[in-house]
Order: sequence, then C-alpha cells, then structure tokens
Amino acid sequence: MANTITLEEIVAKTTDLPSVPTAALAVMREADSPNGSAESVAKYILQDQALAARVLRLANSAFFGLSRKVQTVPEAVVILGMRSVKNLCMVASTYPWMTRPVKGYLLEPKAMWSHALGVGVGAQMIASKTQSVSPDLAFTAGLLHDLGKVALGIWLENKLPAMLKIAAAMEAPFDAIERKVLGYDHTDVGGYIGEAWNLPEPMILAMRYHHRPDECKPESAVVDCVHIADTISMSMGMGLGGDGLYYEFSESSLTRLGLTVDDLGLLTDEFIERFEEQSGMFEGLDN
Ligand SMILES: [Fe+2]
Ligand SMILES: [Fe+2]
Repeated sequence: MANTITLEEIVAKTTDLPSVPTAALAVMREADSPNGSAESVAKYILQDQALAARVLRLANSAFFGLSRKVQTVPEAVVILGMRSVKNLCMVASTYPWMTRPVKGYLLEPKAMWSHALGVGVGAQMIASKTQSVSPDLAFTAGLLHDLGKVALGIWLENKLPAMLKIAAAMEAPFDAIERKVLGYDHTDVGGYIGEAWNLPEPMILAMRYHHRPDECKPESAVVDCVHIADTISMSMGMGLGGDGLYYEFSESSLTRLGLTVDDLGLLTDEFIERFEEQSGMFEGLDN
C-alpha cells in the first residue's frame, strides 16, 4: 500500500477540512489578554452571527438555570463570565464538524464529539488537580487534539480496513501504522492545521504529541494532561473508533504530573461525574 498523497496535499485538497474558528480564536486571545474586557469579547462574538446565536442559546439553556432570559451577547458575557464564554465559544464553533461521522476511523456521528469533549473535560480536570497548567488551556487543547483525525478520516475511509488488519497483526500502536502506510499520522496532520490556524504553541504540541508525550522536548504539562485524558476517554469507550485499542499509554506522563497509576482510577471516577455535568451544558446546541 504505497503512499499516494503527501501531508501538504491532504491539507490542501481536503475541501471538507474544518474551517478556522476565527471568532472563537479571537475571543480566546481577548479573554486571555491582561487588557481583555467583556465588551471586546462580546464584540468578537458578534462578528460571527452563527456563533452569537449559539452563545445566546447556550446562555439561556436549562444548564445555567438563569431566572430571566439573556437578550444580548454582551449581557451573556457579563453573566456567564469571560472564562466560561471562551470555552463555550470554542465548543460552539467546532461542534458542527466534530459531530459528523469520521468514517475513516469507524466513528459514528457524534462519537468524535463525545471523545473531544471528554478529553477537553478530562484534561481540564487533571490540569486543575495537579496545578500544572491553565485548566482552560488544557480544555481547549483536549477539545482539538484529534483534529487531524477529522481531516485524515475523510481520506482514510477506504484505506482503513487494511490498516486495521496491519495494526492487529503487528500489535502496533495505530499512529505507527499511519506513519508506515502514509508517511505521517493524524497527529502530524493536526499539528499542521494547528499551525495554519495560528493556535498557541501548547495546543499545537498537544495535537502533535498526545500519543507520544515522552517525545515532546521540552516536556509539556498540557501534552501530559491530554495524553492521560485521551487514555481515560478511550477506556470509557468514548470515540474508541476502529483504532482506539492500538495506542500506547505512557506512565511517565503520570509521573511528570506527580500522579501515580493508582490515581488513574480516582481520576476516572471523577471524570465520569464531570463529563455528565459538562455535556449537559451543550445539549442546547442541537436545538
Ligand atoms: Fe489521537
Ligand atoms: Fe484522542
């Protein structure tokens, strides 16, 4: 099975590639800036009408249980706070393509979505528990970590059955098979898109090293949080897909964050609770 397409070609040719969530990225930068204000965050949200509509719908969803209806975006930003709005914008703007089926990896509609949200929530939880890195940064990095799969899944659709057979026969991690067959893997594609989108460096690193955290030099706590959250989500069957069983877990990620293998069980229990809570927040996106 010779490689017939380069990494650059796949990114250039795939017309279904997720588009840059420009407004959500601007919101993120503004909310993170020391001079950021609720007013300017609202201004960026309003630049994207679809996003503005989703933010209002979410603000008025049962999850927040507000006593009166929020009428405007600036009001929503003030009531929910810049931090919540920032994460909510990133989810709202990536939701349309995260919920599509990713056939190449045998992911049903919404399976990638629950995996992405699961890894976001998990990475956020681990970051705040270990106080290793900003929980918000970990959330967004987790949400976007498998973006390369969304792109590559389109092209891998017909190649995957043969690749899964190779992985099973060799008992090899699936990203290694992607590299063997294609010359690159979904983490390379993700890193490439992350660079094209001008994402903050730690997010690009999470996209690139989430299956091989020990190779990230210098080490990155965001990468470790995402790697552990990815493993927990897959162990829960969230977005396991056809490839999920063929990845390696690095215990060094736990050690670097000051955690032990025993902590993993406790993290998993807490994760289930948090995930249920958080996914309720986004139910309004389907209406
Ligand atoms: Fe991955
Ligand atoms: Fe993943």
